[in-house]
Amino acid sequence: MDRVRFLVNGVEHTVGCEISSDTSLLEYLRRWLELRGTKYMCQEGGCGACVVSVAKHPGAPTEAVNACLVSVTSCHGWEITTIEKVGNRLKGYHPLQKCLYENNGSQCGYCSPGWVMAMYSLLKKKKMTMLEIEKSLASNICRCTGYRPIIEAFKKFASDCPDPYPILDIEDLSICKKTGDVCSKTCDEYDWCVVSKEDVKQSSVIHIKLSDNRDWYRVEDISDVFRILDAHGTDSYMLVAGNTAKGAYPILEYPRLLIDISGVASLKGCFLDQNLVIGAGNTLTDLMEIFDRMSQTDYFKYLKTFNEHLHLVAHIPVKNIGTIAGNLMIKNRHNEFSSDVFLLFNAVGAELDILNDRGIVNRISMQHFLKENMQGKVILNVLLPPLNNEYKIVTYKIMPRAQNAHAIVHSGFVYKIDPYDKKVLDCRIVYGGLSPAFIRANRTERYLIGRRLFTNETLQGAINVLDNEMVVTEEPPQPSVEYRRKLALSLFYKGLMSLCPPELLGARYRSGAGRLRESRSLSDGKQIFDTNPSLWPLNQPLPKVDGLVQCAGEAKYTEDVPSIPKEVFAAFVLSTVALGTIQKIDASRALLEPGVVAFYSASDIPGQNSFTPGPSIAFMNDEELLCQKEVKYYNQPLGIIVAETQKVADKAVNFVKVTYTNVRKPVLDIKVAKSDPKRNKIYFAATATKTGVDIAKVFKGEGTMYGQYHFCMETLVCVTHPIEEGLKVYATTQWIDSVHKTVSRVLKIQQNKIEVTVRRLGGAYGFKISRPNQVAAACSLVSYKLNRPCRFIQSLKTNMRAVGKRLPSSNNYEVAVNSQGVIQYNNLELYEDNGYVVNEPLTLFGVDIYFNCYDKSSWNFKVYDTITDTTSNTWCRSPGTLENVANAEWLMERIAYEMNLDPLNVRLANLDTVNHEANITELLKTLKTNSQYDERKVDVDKFNSENRWKKRGLRHSFLRWSPLLSPFLEVNMSVYADDGTIVITHSGIEMGQGIDTKAVQTCAYYLKVPVEKIQIKSNDSVISPNAFVSGGSVTTQNVGIGIKKCCEELQKRLEPIKAKMDDPVWDDLIRKASESEVDLQVHATTGIADTQKYDIYGITLAEVEIDVLTGEWNIIRVDLIEDVGRSVNPEIDIGQVEGSFIMGMGYWTTEELKYDQDTGELLTDRSWSYKVPQARDIPQDFRIYFRKKSYSNDVILGAKATGEPATCMAVAVPIAMREAIVAARLENGLPSNQWFEIDGPYTVEKICLSCAIRKEDFKFY
Ligand SMILES: Cc1cc2nc3c(=O)[nH]c(=O)nc-3n(C[C@H](O)[C@H](O)[C@H](O)COP(=O)(O)OP(=O)(O)OC[C@H]3O[C@@H](n4cnc5c(N)ncnc54)[C@H](O)[C@@H]3O)c2cc1C
Ligand code: FES
Ligand code: FES
Repeated sequence: MDRVRFLVNGVEHTVGCEISSDTSLLEYLRRWLELRGTKYMCQEGGCGACVVSVAKHPGAPTEAVNACLVSVTSCHGWEITTIEKVGNRLKGYHPLQKCLYENNGSQCGYCSPGWVMAMYSLLKKKKMTMLEIEKSLASNICRCTGYRPIIEAFKKFASDCPDPYPILDIEDLSICKKTGDVCSKTCDEYDWCVVSKEDVKQSSVIHIKLSDNRDWYRVEDISDVFRILDAHGTDSYMLVAGNTAKGAYPILEYPRLLIDISGVASLKGCFLDQNLVIGAGNTLTDLMEIFDRMSQTDYFKYLKTFNEHLHLVAHIPVKNIGTIAGNLMIKNRHNEFSSDVFLLFNAVGAELDILNDRGIVNRISMQHFLKENMQGKVILNVLLPPLNNEYKIVTYKIMPRAQNAHAIVHSGFVYKIDPYDKKVLDCRIVYGGLSPAFIRANRTERYLIGRRLFTNETLQGAINVLDNEMVVTEEPPQPSVEYRRKLALSLFYKGLMSLCPPELLGARYRSGAGRLRESRSLSDGKQIFDTNPSLWPLNQPLPKVDGLVQCAGEAKYTEDVPSIPKEVFAAFVLSTVALGTIQKIDASRALLEPGVVAFYSASDIPGQNSFTPGPSIAFMNDEELLCQKEVKYYNQPLGIIVAETQKVADKAVNFVKVTYTNVRKPVLDIKVAKSDPKRNKIYFAATATKTGVDIAKVFKGEGTMYGQYHFCMETLVCVTHPIEEGLKVYATTQWIDSVHKTVSRVLKIQQNKIEVTVRRLGGAYGFKISRPNQVAAACSLVSYKLNRPCRFIQSLKTNMRAVGKRLPSSNNYEVAVNSQGVIQYNNLELYEDNGYVVNEPLTLFGVDIYFNCYDKSSWNFKVYDTITDTTSNTWCRSPGTLENVANAEWLMERIAYEMNLDPLNVRLANLDTVNHEANITELLKTLKTNSQYDERKVDVDKFNSENRWKKRGLRHSFLRWSPLLSPFLEVNMSVYADDGTIVITHSGIEMGQGIDTKAVQTCAYYLKVPVEKIQIKSNDSVISPNAFVSGGSVTTQNVGIGIKKCCEELQKRLEPIKAKMDDPVWDDLIRKASESEVDLQVHATTGIADTQKYDIYGITLAEVEIDVLTGEWNIIRVDLIEDVGRSVNPEIDIGQVEGSFIMGMGYWTTEELKYDQDTGELLTDRSWSYKVPQARDIPQDFRIYFRKKSYSNDVILGAKATGEPATCMAVAVPIAMREAIVAARLENGLPSNQWFEIDGPYTVEKICLSCAIRKEDFKFY
């Protein structure tokens, strides 16, 4: 039997019949080769954690690909480079790894190998400018850093960087003498010493009978495709080109026959006859190169526009393997898919050559292709027509974020215009994203032909025809019909404005012609803080101690625990109703599936069926590990499938049949639930101490914020190993003790037989406080039942569907103010959507923050715990405080709009003058100067008066944030006698916040030893029993307190020895102490009594610009000042502030959860549909200032918490957006004091709809 051969990091590997159809390159690298430096999360090309570099054949350019999308059997002849090869502790680290680390571009570090590999691949291809690099980073997501330090690090490798990273001495980036390319290899390596070209070639057809009984063929000749199809039939087959389409439409199970056509040369390249004929097997990267080249030639100049459009398609690694034909075939199978490739081809009336099994080539139009039955056929070529200069072409793509998203609506406009009278001679108007069938506006085209294009009459006439002929259908979770219809009209208008001769286009309208996102220039940032070298290593801006190993893929996470024999994999079976009674669970079909080992339901649990081990402040109620009878929400776990592989487990869960009775419609929306008394219970109330009588205006309102998925790059994972004493549990948790208790109670075995361990987390943000208990308990149950190691890797989809998120909340208020906007009374009620059960209450953290920094004396405040029929929601970065601060800030805004007052003055007039005014006004003074607020305010007003279709907003938000005191933690410190090195274990969990680095700095400061002498070790339930959760931004400081105590105790023990020596150096002192039998291991605990309360203050100024016609936005600049005290590590704290701000920004802009309102099913459950911000979404100019000369208290070394507060400050962004929207509404005569509510994030849809544009206003002059 044939085998597929390739190199991984220079070593040859072959695969054949032992592989199944669903074995991806990612799985092969991680599980077969144990190369676990390559990480993963989404498994659909959406996050970039899995990026590796490949050369597809000897001498081919090195390109990034998503290892999660590539079948390992597709890798024939490839040379694959993983993070392990790029740089490591043995051969030395690569400049990219070092630069990313030095720039603090890695926090939890889970995304870092993927970033390095993406950039490594880019650099291999060509030198790029800083802007090109920034635009090329759409393939990767980082949830921690907020991107700024990553961009900054990578820009140092740009051709135009004024401050380049020193790379001269690095062979990895030297220029190859043979090829002139940037190249990492020595010439010997370049010639493929292990697999030669000839080796790779072998026969032109490779056939492998895969382990799951599928046939894999690799062909080089198109005729072989038909020969194989003829032999096997066409009932169940797939042509595998890039295999990326499954990123758009997931494949649950591959068909019986798989034919790899990626090596078919006749499907590649291009040639010119009358048309430009492009092989359909070209990748999208090839296509861009062809467009780039051919756009230099007459008649194909329009390809420049196409090339620019393709920059907005997917991202580079997908384009490096995804092909033209593959993309078009998605459109063929799913007509609703917004294929950019189809759109562009349709715009110019391209045709396709389709080859059938009789060897006949049919030439068909794009329109025809939509309905073509492609069974047993191959797309050979696309034919692009020549178009002379009389043709003008414009295309648009509107996305929920700046890059790497499929279109909400996209369009192409082609006009042949008479150069003299500007009459339309010919035109094509095409759309995608409106409805599966409506792809071309024929009636509008006919209307335009013969008319002078750039007159208001033609424009209005065409708009009306278009509006009437458009067919726009609901396509959940895509935005509403109303928005997509508006977009279609707007894009038509924008297209014409962009072509309109400047002399015909009114000056105020010109703003509508531009492209907000694509024209955004290079981003920049400043981080201003003081550091006092006399205190170093305290207060020193040091990179993270584990940053380099993270950037090198050497840092270990839970799923990096190597596989051991007999390991099984598990996945939850989820309910498919939201409310109902389980009548029967039938797993018989699933158990028949090859590879399935077992099924467990609630009745198999030996102990308590609960993963919320209360009572505690987090857990007031039990939540079932597996639903026993009454289903509480859609996709509640009710069983566990155990299988030999994760893929089989994930697949087999769908074969478990569950019957329900009493199925009811769920209540999902907090806005509905809050008015049902049965669903609400008061949690906390505060009463006003006075009521003012100077009442100029009273107004009422309500505001609602919805959930946010934490989007950790590492999903919930657990690995359990039966050990001689009981069970070892590798968990992804912020709270070891909680997992420990849960497993013990669920399995009914003693805690001392269970060992829970955590090295670090790949992001957490609150997601891993309580929810990991469920996965850990399920995984432990499997190991307990089978006495086998188990690995439970929860997919992104299950993570999103089955697990709670940030609590939605909704408020009602009635406010009375005087003419200066000072609140006379405020009756404020807040309803918190806990999901189906109250655990982890939101306001626990926000009780003291409901009035932010304002005078609360006239505020009546009530908080209710509200129940909806959804997952039990869970704390998410700055829970409670974010919501309360936002409510207070929105209130200030509303007062300003209602009373026509300056919002800054309203805020100042309402400040708490006793407790907070001095701090806030001092920060404001600094920020106003640094940000040139007054001048920029004038500029914004001027901009808004001069531009009809673009508007700006410049607004502040204020912040007061006070951390909760945190209970029990442990610190152990040991000193080794032989070399004086120190090892520390502490109860804190390193999840990117830099707790280990700050612990090292604190220890080094007190003991006066170099930081290099100190090592932090992994945390577990043996050395750190009963410890409290890491969270609330305070664990780092509390660990610091414990370290200080340990150091003091150690110094006390060393003192008598030291006194007998003559000013000894550390190593000698320790040696002597050891000889004198001094116990060099110390231990300390910290608790609530050790800490002190303090307030953190901050002010943000955000400037945004919106495109009124589309709702797109750009954050022009953010200035943020935060009082972080005297930071232990300002570099790390800058990272915390930036990262948390961007997470908050995502919450307020792009991150939208959508549910099926009838069933309760989450529709935005993938990276494809839930969009977190990416590198080009962050503020273009992002300036962070730390308050000068700030100090909190000695107990925590003068520092203040930084992990969460800035999340709350991001509310400045929607507040500024609102100002821009108000400016747009003013143009329509809607007064600024007419309040309008926008619930949840300010998505492009909501911005555009709130601008209330009218098609009658679409004019040229
Ligand atoms: C993260 C991500 C983002 C994306 N963003 C966008 C976007 O913004 N805009 C957009 O338009 N697309 C987007 N896509 C889709 C992407 O362009 C397609 O996945 C890719 O082009 C498919 O090509 P492929 O070679 O990988 O197809 P494959 O997955 O290999 O194949 C897909 C289908 O095409 C069939 N097929 C392949 N070649 C031929 C042929 N020559 N003849 C007949 N049938 C054939 C196969 O049988 C299969 O059914 C995105 C995809 C991902 C994963
Ligand atoms: S895991 Fe491959 S892109 Fe997310
Ligand atoms: S550092 Fe990027 S996701 Fe954590």
